[in-house]
Amino acid sequence: MSPALPPVIRSSFLLGIIALLGTALLAAVNALTHERIIEQEKHRVLQQLNEIVPTTSFNNDLLADKIEIRDETFFRHPAAVTVYRARMDGQAVAVMMIVNTPDGYNGNIRLLAGINAAGTVLGVRVVSHRETPGLGDPIEIEKSDWIRRFTNKSLHDPGPNGWAVKKDGGQFDQFTGATISPRAVVKAVHNTLLYFEANQQLLFNKPTQSPKQNE
Ligand SMILES: Cc1cc2nc3c(=O)[nH]c(=O)nc-3n(C[C@H](O)[C@H](O)[C@H](O)COP(=O)(O)O)c2cc1C
Repeated sequence: MSPALPPVIRSSFLLGIIALLGTALLAAVNALTHERIIEQEKHRVLQQLNEIVPTTSFNNDLLADKIEIRDETFFRHPAAVTVYRARMDGQAVAVMMIVNTPDGYNGNIRLLAGINAAGTVLGVRVVSHRETPGLGDPIEIEKSDWIRRFTNKSLHDPGPNGWAVKKDGGQFDQFTGATISPRAVVKAVHNTLLYFEANQQLLFNKPTQSPKQNE
């Protein structure tokens, strides 16, 4: 830098460079963190898929038999819902759906819901959330058994009024001092079952898409 430049210009120039370097560093850290979070989520979903659908019950490539759908009416969320289809000798066995609900206390809760061809829940797991530790986080299987109560439920068991937390007249427990998180999960699972009932043919028959078609 030319020593002839006035000190105020030199300082501004240096500050500008420091700010640029700082921004670039932050962007790099963000990109790395984002990739790590996506990888961790993939790993988590794989583990949860294995927990929910017995590997002996299907013989297709579950992870490759994947589609994406969008339906804001049912899911109240614009994000794509990822659906993995389990089949035995080509026959529909179950769908594993990754759905989002915006109704958590701290925003989005991402769930994996397994539903068999008869419309019965095989299991539900929370993939990610930002609910408050000690209040809303018992939705996680690592924190409590609460999420297991959806297993074997369907639209007929319980009936429409049962699909709510007890505080709202339904069948599912809320947590001490925290109703919003369990209420959000109950509603999201119920909406997923309603979507399944209305769109079962599409869910099993829609051809898998190449990543380009999904965009
Ligand atoms: C700092 C703070 C964090 C909270 N986090 C949660 C949460 O993660 N999940 C939840 O259901 N409620 C949480 N609550 C409590 C809710 O505000 C609410 O009182 C509770 O869920 C009961 O809701 P209801 O009145 O609709 O039954 C939190 C409250 C505070 C003050």
